[in-house]
Amino acid sequence: MHTFVKKFIVPLLAKRRWTRVCEIGASFGESTELLAALPSIAVTVIDPCLDCDLEKKFGDTSQVTVKRGLSLEVLPGLHNSFDCILIDGDHNWYTVYHELKVIADRGLLRRGGIVFLHDVDWPWGRRDMYYQPEMIPSEHRQTCELKGVVQGQRELSDRDGFSRGVPKATQEGGARNGVLTAIEDFMGEHKGEYEFSRLFGDDGLGILFRRQNATEDLSFLSVKRKGAIYNCLTWPKRVAETIYHRAGKPIR
Ligand SMILES: C[S@@+](CC[C@H](N)C(=O)[O-])C[C@H]1O[C@@H](n2cnc3c(N)ncnc32)[C@H](O)[C@@H]1O
Repeated sequence: MHTFVKKFIVPLLAKRRWTRVCEIGASFGESTELLAALPSIAVTVIDPCLDCDLEKKFGDTSQVTVKRGLSLEVLPGLHNSFDCILIDGDHNWYTVYHELKVIADRGLLRRGGIVFLHDVDWPWGRRDMYYQPEMIPSEHRQTCELKGVVQGQRELSDRDGFSRGVPKATQEGGARNGVLTAIEDFMGEHKGEYEFSRLFGDDGLGILFRRQNATEDLSFLSVKRKGAIYNCLTWPKRVAETIYHRAGKPIR
């Protein structure tokens, strides 16, 4: 997420002068530091602080409020209307689907605001991973193992692969499995209100825009960087193809 925050999200927030941000999943707070450097910003961070004591780290930073806890425990107690919400916490269907649902039900994202979601591509787009499997209700938890994940291979590997030691779904794909599947399921229930697009590279960034009216398009999501204009339609073409998605249609 850090690369996307640096190259895309921070310049976009600066350009739009958006100031009310929620960051779910902050790890060591490196993206938080980039966000906190923006003028007039107020960042609400939600994280159980598994990697770092973020309350201590940002104790003297007035722009940052740390809510220590799991997103699904903390979000229902918020009353904010955010311009932008970054989701990069627990990368599994149950957590992401319910994060989006709570955000929508409680109106935590204002109309015209954006939810950015990391890890919409391989490996977690179609495969759950769990920071703390015991925190996910068993009926929503995939059978999981600590083996390696190998691109193009549905099964996990005993010998090779990435992210060994992290609990992850034994099988890739299928219902209620992975971050992108969670977004699709949420979109299917909110037809017309949200627009989704994604940037490829660095495990993929999902951009979920909450419409203000039916005629808006996402081309306003452009930033100038090193003399070139990038937006969510052109920026990732330097890396790979961008897929532009309308509510209700399947995400490729
Ligand atoms: C991939 S790291 C986030 C990286 C960060 N966004 C960045 O750009 O540097 C994932 C973080 O999510 C946190 N996390 C795990 N489960 C969570 C949950 N249910 N709610 C909120 N945060 C969670 C972990 O503590 C960890 O700090």
